[in-house]
Amino acid sequence: METNAKTGKEGVNLQGVPETLLWPLWNRAAEQKREDRLLDDPFSADLVDRIDYDFEASFGKPNTGHAVRARVIDNAINSWLMTNPSGTVISLGEGLDTQFWRVDNGSMRWISVDLPESIEVRKRFLSVEERMEMVECSALDDLWIKKVQQGSEVFIVMAGLLMYFRESEVRDLLYRIAERFRDSQVIFDVIPVWLSRKSLKGMKVTKTYTVPPMPWALNYGDYQWFTDIHPRYRIKRKMTYAEPFPERMRPYSYLLAFPWLTNRLAPGIVHLEII
Ligand SMILES: C[S@@+](CC[C@H](N)C(=O)[O-])C[C@H]1O[C@@H](n2cnc3c(N)ncnc32)[C@H](O)[C@@H]1O
Repeated sequence: METNAKTGKEGVNLQGVPETLLWPLWNRAAEQKREDRLLDDPFSADLVDRIDYDFEASFGKPNTGHAVRARVIDNAINSWLMTNPSGTVISLGEGLDTQFWRVDNGSMRWISVDLPESIEVRKRFLSVEERMEMVECSALDDLWIKKVQQGSEVFIVMAGLLMYFRESEVRDLLYRIAERFRDSQVIFDVIPVWLSRKSLKGMKVTKTYTVPPMPWALNYGDYQWFTDIHPRYRIKRKMTYAEPFPERMRPYSYLLAFPWLTNRLAPGIVHLEII
């Protein structure tokens, strides 16, 4: 990949859904510069400085949503690691997330699963640690599932991933996860139906960037759907993005006073347990 002779920055050649990995990276890097930051993530800031890509032209001014998502998931992993210190975290569609370094307890294991073009970028910009394994495949393939022993206790992260699948694919993936793993946890974010519809019509974030279609969505009031997928699923926690740090999510956090609106309009984060 080419290095920009003027800036010394390295190019990335990503399109479609893989290109979206640069968006949460941009927002986490911006968070790092704030005094009241939700995350300590110097690696993300460093990556944005090293990558030859006009982040602001594509994604506009940074916003807090991705930092909230990252912090909520970091917290969930941290508490799981308290009781599973040598446990395996599996991050599906990990992109350039630096979560390993944000939560590492020195003994956990980590499996990073993504499409080949995204893994290529990840390997180029981030180090592969001893307790980390990279798996080049679709989250929808069985290859990554077979890497882990049947019945293992794992923590599965899917941040910014499921909305790019079809409903049948999401259902099937969650079903296979519950069949394979015991006493495990799964965490992911969900977009509401209005946002999916908007994306299917071609949703422009800036003049130069259109979000890839996001076909799968579920309204906040309908999360019972997850426990219907498999009898061993329980909802451990669900929250809107505005809930954990309302002061950072104004004016959206005012929505929370109106459950009717929240249930229809709010994106959310779901933390499931597999019993
Ligand atoms: C919005 S990015 C999220 C990246 C990362 N999880 C984060 O929060 O920074 C979406 C990621 O999903 C990956 N992806 C898209 N389709 C995938 C698939 N079928 N299987 C695995 N990963 C996929 C993309 O390559 C990209 O890394």
